[in-house]
Amino acid sequence: MAKPISDARFKTPKKLSSHGPARVIALCNQKGGVGKTTTTINTAAALAEYGRKVLLIDFDPQGALSRGLGLINEDVTTIYDLMVDRKLKATDAIVHTSVEGLDLIPANIQLSAAEIQLVAEPGREKILAGVIRPILGDYDVIMIDCQPSLGLLTVNALTAAHGVLIPVACDYFALKGLQLLINHTVELVRERLNEGLKIDGILATMYDPRTLHSRNMLNQLYEDYGDLVFRSVIKHTVKFKDSSEQGKPVTQYASSSEAAEQYRTVARELVDRGCAP
Ligand SMILES: Nc1ncnc2c1ncn2[C@@H]1O[C@H](COP(=O)(O)OP(=O)(O)O)[C@@H](O)[C@H]1O
Ligand SMILES: [Mg+2]
Repeated sequence: MAKPISDARFKTPKKLSSHGPARVIALCNQKGGVGKTTTTINTAAALAEYGRKVLLIDFDPQGALSRGLGLINEDVTTIYDLMVDRKLKATDAIVHTSVEGLDLIPANIQLSAAEIQLVAEPGREKILAGVIRPILGDYDVIMIDCQPSLGLLTVNALTAAHGVLIPVACDYFALKGLQLLINHTVELVRERLNEGLKIDGILATMYDPRTLHSRNMLNQLYEDYGDLVFRSVIKHTVKFKDSSEQGKPVTQYASSSEAAEQYRTVARELVDRGCAP
């Protein structure tokens, strides 16, 4: 049985500047619609509430993370620009969000060209790592919201990261792709590009306690992956759609909701596991 979460350290006053160098977490799952973007926004917002300085990188050409944080202006410098134009600095693309301590590097559909465009570059897997290296000292945590694929962009995220957080929706086929991600992609990146890459945790999302298959799936997840699975489980609720329509994290849109509390618990577990120092 895992030890209970100690709360004392979260009650310290907000830090004014980061302790750096940032710990980098990639949010990955090659399946779409499993809660990667929702988990990125809300875990990050909860970490910011706890005084962490957090940078989010939208690494999906769909740009859902950018929109979910209220960024609707398409005419901005994006992560794509930083990857293809070496004259730009990461700070040129950073925007502040409505959450104190939470910054964002946006993305838009242009990023979909990167995969093809960068394929002939030497060190093509390490481009993102190079982009964020100069700003590691400015943040406590950097979270990368990956696109649903295991292609070059995701490999760049896994190469730049210290750890990977895997959201898994509680539905029938959720466990299928998990082995491919963990035993194949993460393992290959470890062997060839990023020896120290850790699995920070697996997060069950869209859990509906009323359905048998949701409960079965969660039990199977615990059976297969044990302590890697976060104790916090994110229940299915319309609050997440509502809050991203408002361009806000649920911790801000419905601060005292169960949904907000569930992500605060994820943030505390990350801190407890040493993944968000
Ligand atoms: N726990 C949840 N309950 C209900 N809907 C959710 C939950 N988490 C995410 N969603 C919704 O499901 C859709 C897909 O989630 P998203 O985070 O964008 O997944 P991904 O980034 O993996 O594609 C979004 O419309 C989002 O608002
Ligand atoms: Mg997404």
